[in-house]
Amino acid sequence: MRARRLLHTAIERRSAFARLSEQDLAFFQSILGNSGVITDADALVPFNQDWQKKYEGKSRVALRPRSTEQVSEVLRYCSSRRLAVVPQGGNTGLVGGSVPVFDEVVLSTAAMNKVLEFDEVSGTLVAQSGCVLAALDEHVGARGFMMPLDLGAKGSCHIGGNVSTNAGGLRLVRYGSLHGSVLGLEVVLPEPLLPPPPSRGGGGGSSSGSSNGATASAAATAGSTADGRVLDLLRTLRKDNTGYDLKQLFIGAEGTLGVVTAVAIQCAPRPASVQLALLACPTFAAACTTLRAARRMLGEVLSAVEFLDSACSDLATAYLDGVRNPLLPQDAAAAVAGLGEAGDTGGGAAVVARGRGGGEEGLEGGGVGDDRQFYMVVETHGSDADHDTQKMERFLEHVMAEGCVTDGTLAASEAQAKTIWRLREGIAEALARRGAVYKYDVSLPTAVMYDLVEVLRQRLGAAGFGPEGGVQVRREGGVQVRREGGVQVRREGGVQVRREEGVQVVGYGHIGDGNLHLNISAPRYDDDLLHQIEPYVYEFVRQHNGSISAEHGIGLMKAGALPYSKGPVAIELMRRIKETVDPYGILNPYKVLPQR
Ligand code: FAD
Ligand code: MLT
Ligand code: ZN
Repeated sequence: MRARRLLHTAIERRSAFARLSEQDLAFFQSILGNSGVITDADALVPFNQDWQKKYEGKSRVALRPRSTEQVSEVLRYCSSRRLAVVPQGGNTGLVGGSVPVFDEVVLSTAAMNKVLEFDEVSGTLVAQSGCVLAALDEHVGARGFMMPLDLGAKGSCHIGGNVSTNAGGLRLVRYGSLHGSVLGLEVVLPEPLLPPPPSRGGGGGSSSGSSNGATASAAATAGSTADGRVLDLLRTLRKDNTGYDLKQLFIGAEGTLGVVTAVAIQCAPRPASVQLALLACPTFAAACTTLRAARRMLGEVLSAVEFLDSACSDLATAYLDGVRNPLLPQDAAAAVAGLGEAGDTGGGAAVVARGRGGGEEGLEGGGVGDDRQFYMVVETHGSDADHDTQKMERFLEHVMAEGCVTDGTLAASEAQAKTIWRLREGIAEALARRGAVYKYDVSLPTAVMYDLVEVLRQRLGAAGFGPEGGVQVRREGGVQVRREGGVQVRREGGVQVRREEGVQVVGYGHIGDGNLHLNISAPRYDDDLLHQIEPYVYEFVRQHNGSISAEHGIGLMKAGALPYSKGPVAIELMRRIKETVDPYGILNPYKVLPQR
C-alpha cells in the first residue's frame, strides 16, 4: 500500500505491521465493550480524516477507552500483535499527525473526559486527557480561574492533544508555553519498562493524596494496577528538581512516544479587567512598532498581540456568516446591527480615534486605503479596570500620534470583544472554506516575518499562480488547461468549464511570539504549486534561523523537512529516544521523524 501525502513524496506502509483481524476486534470488544469499538464505515470517516480534509487514512477501527487501565490494555495488545496505533484527541491538528496514514488503529481519547481534581487555592487542575479545552475553561472559570491557553479550536481540541502538540495559541505572550504550565502528566508507554508489580493493593507505588503537591494518578483513581507501562508523572508541584524532567519529552511529542492519559496544569486567576483593541496599521513595520510600544506601555497587563493582513480580514468577512471587521465602513453598519442588542452605543465598538495617516473623520463614508493593510488585536488582562483602561488609552494615544496606528476601536462590551476575536480566530475556518490551503506555521525574527509572505506572493505570481494568474497554458492530467486573469478554462467531458481561480498568499498569527501563519489558498491541491512553495519556504526559514514549526508541530506534513530546523545529532537523539520507548515503532508511525 502506498499513500500520497499531498506532498512530493510517497511513503510505503511498513510491512512489519500486522493487519487487523476479526480476533483483534473481538479482543478490543472484550475490554472496551461494543460502544468502545467503532468499525462502521460511515462512523469511521471523522476518525480517518483530518480537520482540513487534506489527510485521509483507511483505518478499520477506532477505539474509545475510558480509563488509563484500558489504554494500557490496548497498547499491550497492539504491541504484542505489532498493530500500529495513532492517538487522537479532538482531531483539530493541522499537520496530518492525528489521522492514520494507512490502516493504523485509531485510539481516541474522546471518552476520557473527567476532571479528576481542582485545587482552588493553587489553581492546579488535574484532568483526563480527553477533556475538551473549552469545557475545562468553563470548569475552572466557575471557580475564578482560566486555562493558561486559548485557541480557535477550543470547542473541539482536547487537553491531551494540546499537550501532545505543545499548542501555543492566543495568549502565550502572557501565560507562557505548556512547557511551563504543565505540572505533571500520566502517560501510557507502548512497552513496559519494568515487569508489572505483583499488586499495588491500596498502598505502594504512587501517592494517592493530593496534599503536598502529589496527586492521585488517573490509573490509581480508576482503581487500576500499573502494569509497568504507565509512566506516572502526575504531580502538581510548581518546583520539582529531581533529575531529568521527563514530562517535557511528551509535551510536543505528537503521540509518537506514549499516550497521554491525564494532565496536571497550572491555571491562572481569571482577570477582573479585560481590555481589547482592534487596530489598523499602514505597514508591517508599523505593526512591529506598535508591538514594541504595547510591550513597553502595557507591560505586565499585556495578554495578547495578534496580527492579520487585510486579505485575511476580507476572507474572514466574506466566508463566515456574521463575521465583521468593525474598522471597515461597510462592516461597521452591520456590526451596529449585530451588536446593538448588547446595549452598545453604536459603531459595533467604540471608535477610539483616527491617527495621522487615517485621513477620514468617523466611520462612515470613505474607501479603505493603504492605511489599513494590517490589523492588530491587542488585549490586556489585569485586576483594576481604571488602571488598565488608563494604560490602554495612553498606549492608543501614543501609537496613533506616532502614525503607526491609523484607526482603532476598543471593545466596550463582551459582545464587542467576541466580534473582534471572531475576526482573528475565524481565519483558519474561512481559508478552509475557500478551498485547498497550504499552511505554514513558522517562527521568524519579527521584523522579517512578513517578508516571507511578500516574497512568496511575488514568486507564485511570477510562476502563474497569483490571484490574477496572468496567462498560462499547461497540461493537467492529460487535459489542456488555460489560466487567464484568475479564471481557469478547461474542457471536461467535451464541455468548456470556467472556474474562478486565484491563488492567494496571506499572513496572520501571533506577532507577539514571532509566529507567522503563512497560508497559501488555492482552488485545489496541485503538485506544481507545491513545488513552487516547498522547499522555498523552509529554506527561507533556515536562512533566517527560524523554525519550520512554531506551534502546530511536524506531523506527517513536515516529517521530511525536519532537518531544516534540527541538526543531525539532534535528529539522531530523537530517533534513539523513540527506539528506546517504542522499539517496534507502533505509535504514530511515519510522523515527526524523517523516513530513513
Ligand atoms: P489532535 O488533532 O487529535 O492530535 C494532534 C496530535 O497529538 C497528533 O499527533 C496526535 O497523535 C497527538 N495526540 C492527541 N492526543 C494525544 C494523547 N492523548 N496522547 C498522545 N498523543 C496525542 N494550534 C496552536 O498551537 N495554536 C493555535 O492557535 C491553534 N489554533 C487552531 C485553530 C483551529 C481552528 C484549528 C482547527 C486548529 C488550531 N491549532 C492551533 C492546531 C491544533 O494543534 C490544536 O487545535 C490542538 O492542540 C490539537 O489538539 P487535538 O486534541 O485536536 O489533537
Ligand atoms: C491560528 O493561530 O489561527 C491557528 O494556529 C490556526 C491557523 O494557523 O490557521
Ligand atoms: Zn496559531
